[in-house]
Amino acid sequence: AEALKVGVAGLGTVGASVVQLLAKHGGQIARKSGRAVTVTAVCARDRNKDRGFDVSSLEWFSDPVEMAEKAEVDIFVELIGGDNGAAEECVRAALQRGIHVVTANKALLAKHGVSLAGLAEANNACLNYEAAVAGGIPIVKTLRESMAGNDVSRVYGILNGTCNYILTRMEAEGIGFEECLADAQRLGYAEADPSFDIEGNDTAHKLAILTSLAFGTKISSDDIYMEGITSIASADIEAADELGFRIKLLGVAQRTETGIEQRVHPTMVPKSSAIARIDGVLNAVAVDGDYVGEIVLVGPGAGGDATASSVVADIADIARGDQTPVLGMPAADLKEYQRARMRMH
Ligand code: NAP
Ligand code: HSE
Repeated sequence: AEALKVGVAGLGTVGASVVQLLAKHGGQIARKSGRAVTVTAVCARDRNKDRGFDVSSLEWFSDPVEMAEKAEVDIFVELIGGDNGAAEECVRAALQRGIHVVTANKALLAKHGVSLAGLAEANNACLNYEAAVAGGIPIVKTLRESMAGNDVSRVYGILNGTCNYILTRMEAEGIGFEECLADAQRLGYAEADPSFDIEGNDTAHKLAILTSLAFGTKISSDDIYMEGITSIASADIEAADELGFRIKLLGVAQRTETGIEQRVHPTMVPKSSAIARIDGVLNAVAVDGDYVGEIVLVGPGAGGDATASSVVADIADIARGDQTPVLGMPAADLKEYQRARMRMH
């Protein structure tokens, strides 16, 4: 069969890694998925910026919506970011044409996930987003597909690489918050607006997606109790250390008798626990299923190459012909999210 044509909108930290990964491992992706994939079109604001690869042979767009409306591609990859504006418009435009979409944009999914899932299903298109939650960790596939036979009672973990990187370096090296954040930005871990990381919004967006996949509910991030790490000082980390704890920013979603509890906040975890040893940009996600028991996935939660690994896995799934409902079941079958009374402990 002819190679699947891929358009990549956004050539920043993640987009540039995706183009390079597809060029480097295109042969094995074709062998493993049964179909070759090739990047034919790209989009970013500045055509003259050095991206580490040659764009001259690729169709160039500076407007992602125009690319979604006009480019002759089979898969549209959205790596621009933002929960509305250009990112939302280009994803909708591609889906309306029946073009499969791959995105890493958790903010967009947390806000418009149900409506985008419905649009994808109505147009017989895939909407894949493995990279949107926990970077390189395959947690979306795990919840959506591998754990389809389980009733999930809880999903929780460290879901933001930037915060975990900051907390780890503050504790291990005694470096101040601002310096650690600047390094996370330089390394490509942080969001374009890093307040989304440190205030907890990014963890809340990811948690809202996991909650929907785990419990079959409509995505709802407005209902999440949220507290970030901006008020954590070195003295708090030292005090926790003396008591035998480490501080981690956790996202927790669990079924209770009164509904589903979702919360994001810094948590004291015993140093002896597995989650206390998740350092730096690593994330960890634990899921409790009634048949499998607890599983824990650990891996890089941010960074261009790790995130590109998940984006390309989504592309390979489309090349293979996989078409799972976007949120694990038809969008019309998702239940209303029912907020539980908070019982933090
Ligand atoms: P980034 O480095 O800021 O790159 C954004 C890219 O989008 C740039 O190439 C930029 O063009 C382009 N762009 C932005 N607005 C545009 C517009 N209006 N029209 C055309 N092009 C536009 O961002 P990133 O870190 O790669 O993140 C991309 C997405 O992946 C976000 O949704 C983010 O949340 C998600 N994500 C990131 C990571 C990570 O570790 N970085 C991990 C998981 C998920 P120019 O280059 O010309 O400025
Ligand atoms: N800014 C995000 C993080 C990127 O630090 O986890 C990965 O989603």
